[in-house]
Amino acid sequence: MLQKSMSSSSSSFCTLLIGLLFVVLLGGSLSHGQLRTTFYDTTCPKVSKIVRGIIKEALKKDARIGASLIRLHFHDCFVNGCDGSLLLNNSATIESEKEALPNNNSARGFGVVDDIKTALETACPATVSCADILAIAAEESVSLAGGPSWKVSLGRRDSTTANRTAAELLPGPTEDLPSLKKKFSNVGLDTTDLVALSGAHTFGRAQCRTFNNRLYNFSGSGNPDPTLNTTYLSTLKGICPQNGDTTVVTNLDLTTPDVFDNKYFSNLKVLKGLLQSDQKLFSTTGDETVAIVNKFTANQTAFFASFVVSMIKMGNISPLTGTAGEIRLNCGKVNDDCTGSDGLLYSST
Ligand code: HEM
Ligand SMILES: *[C@@H]1O[C@H](CO)[C@@H](O)[C@H](O)[C@H]1NC(C)=O
Ligand SMILES: *[C@@H]1O[C@H](CO)[C@@H](O)[C@H](O)[C@H]1NC(C)=O
Ligand SMILES: *[C@@H]1O[C@H](CO)[C@@H](O)[C@H](O)[C@H]1NC(C)=O
Ligand SMILES: *[C@@H]1O[C@H](CO)[C@@H](O)[C@H](O)[C@H]1NC(C)=O
Ligand SMILES: *[C@@H]1O[C@H](CO)[C@@H](O)[C@H](O)[C@H]1NC(C)=O
Ligand SMILES: *[C@@H]1O[C@H](CO)[C@@H](O)[C@H](O)[C@H]1NC(C)=O
Repeated sequence: MLQKSMSSSSSSFCTLLIGLLFVVLLGGSLSHGQLRTTFYDTTCPKVSKIVRGIIKEALKKDARIGASLIRLHFHDCFVNGCDGSLLLNNSATIESEKEALPNNNSARGFGVVDDIKTALETACPATVSCADILAIAAEESVSLAGGPSWKVSLGRRDSTTANRTAAELLPGPTEDLPSLKKKFSNVGLDTTDLVALSGAHTFGRAQCRTFNNRLYNFSGSGNPDPTLNTTYLSTLKGICPQNGDTTVVTNLDLTTPDVFDNKYFSNLKVLKGLLQSDQKLFSTTGDETVAIVNKFTANQTAFFASFVVSMIKMGNISPLTGTAGEIRLNCGKVNDDCTGSDGLLYSST
C-alpha cells in the first residue's frame, strides 16, 4: 500500500522533471548558475507565505524555532554550499551531517522543515528545493522576530550526497578569531560578514557544554574567563554548575532572548556575550571587529543592513543550480531512482 503510493508520486515527479528540463533549456542562460528572487514567481508564487505560516504556527509552541531554523541554513551553507545536505538522514549511502559534533543533539527544527516540505509538495509538487526552504525559513524567522526582511535569492537544488567530515569542521565556540575569520573567508565571507552574521545570536539558545569552559577554569588558568562580566558569570554558574547537566540551555542574548535586534552587540560591550566566540568580537583588543561591534551597537539600522547583505552572500555559497542535483521530495532522503526499466519504481526502504 505505502510502497505503491510512494511509487506513484515518484513517477509523476519523473514526468515533471522532463518538463522542468525543457523549461530550463528554453530559459537558456538566464538561469545558469544564478539564483534569483523571482525563481518561483510562476511555479510556486505562495512559497514564502506558506513557509511563513508554518513557522508562525510553530513559534506558538516553541519560541526558539526561528533561531533553530536560521542556524540550519548556516550549517547547510558552510558545508559544500547551500544544497540541503544537512537535512539528509543516515542511509546506506549517506553518512549524515546531522551527527557531526557541531550538529549532533544541537541542530534542531528538522520536523518543521519536513512540515514545510509536506505543505509545499501539496501546493506545488516537486518544485521547491529543501535548500531553498532553509533560505526562505531563515528570512521569515528573522522578520517574524522583529528583524529585517529581504528578498531571498532562490533556485538552489538539493544534493544527493552529504559530507560528515566537512560538517565536523563547522566554526566552533572555543575557536579564536583568526580561526573563525579563516573559516569564513574559506567560503567567501569577510570580517564584516563574520560580525554581522554572529549577530544572529541575538536570539535562540545554547547548551552549557558550548560555553562552560569559560566559567570555572578558563584555559587552565584556574579562574573564569576575564572577559565575562562577573554579574553574568554568577548567573551562568547557577545555570551550569560544575559537574552538572551540560545539555541545559540558556539564552544567547540575555537582554531580549527572542527578539531580533542589536542587543547582542550592546551585550558584548558590557562583557555579556555568552559564547567565547561572541565575546572575542569585542574583547580582542586592536582587531577590526571591535569597531564593527561598536557601529552595530550604536546603529541598529546599520546592523540590519549589513546582516541582510551578509545573509544573501552566505545564501550564495556554491549552490547547485540548473539541472545539477535534484528537487528532493522528502528533505530527509535522496529521491528514489526513477529509471526502472519496467517503468515501476522500487523503493530502497
Ligand atoms: C561565528 C561562528 C559561529 C559559532 C562558533 C557559532 C556557535 C554556536 C553554538 C555553539 C550554538 C549553540 C548550539 C547548542 O548549544 O546546541 C549556536 C547557536 C545558534 N547559532 Fe551560531 N555560531 C556561529 C555563527 C552563526 C551564524 C553565522 C548564524 C546564522 C546566521 C548562527 C545562528 C545561530 C542561532 C540562531 C543559534 C541558536 C539556535 C537555537 O536556539 O536552536 N550562528 N551557535
Ligand atoms: C550522536 O548522538 C547520539 C546520542 O543522542 C549518539 O548515540 C551518537 O553516537 C552520536 N553520533 C555520533 C556520530 O557521535
Ligand atoms: C568532505 O569534506 C572533507 C573536508 O572538507 C574533504 O576533505 C573531502 O574531500 C570531502 N569529501 C567529498 C566526497 O567531497
Ligand atoms: C585548571 O586546569 C589546569 C589545566 O588543565 C589544571 O592544571 C589546574 O589544576 C586546574 N585548576 C583548577 C583550580 O581546577
Ligand atoms: C557588568 O554588568 C554591569 C551591569 O549588570 C555593568 O554595570 C558593568 O559595567 C559590567 N561590567 C563590565 C566590565 O562591563
Ligand atoms: C545608521 O546606519 C544607516 C545605514 O547604514 C545610515 O543610513 C544612517 O545614517 C546611520 N545613522 C546614524 C545616526 O549614523
Ligand atoms: C529522518 O530522521 C528523523 C529523526 O529521526 C525522522 O523524524 C524523519 O522522519 C526521518 N526522515 C526520513 C526521510 O527518514
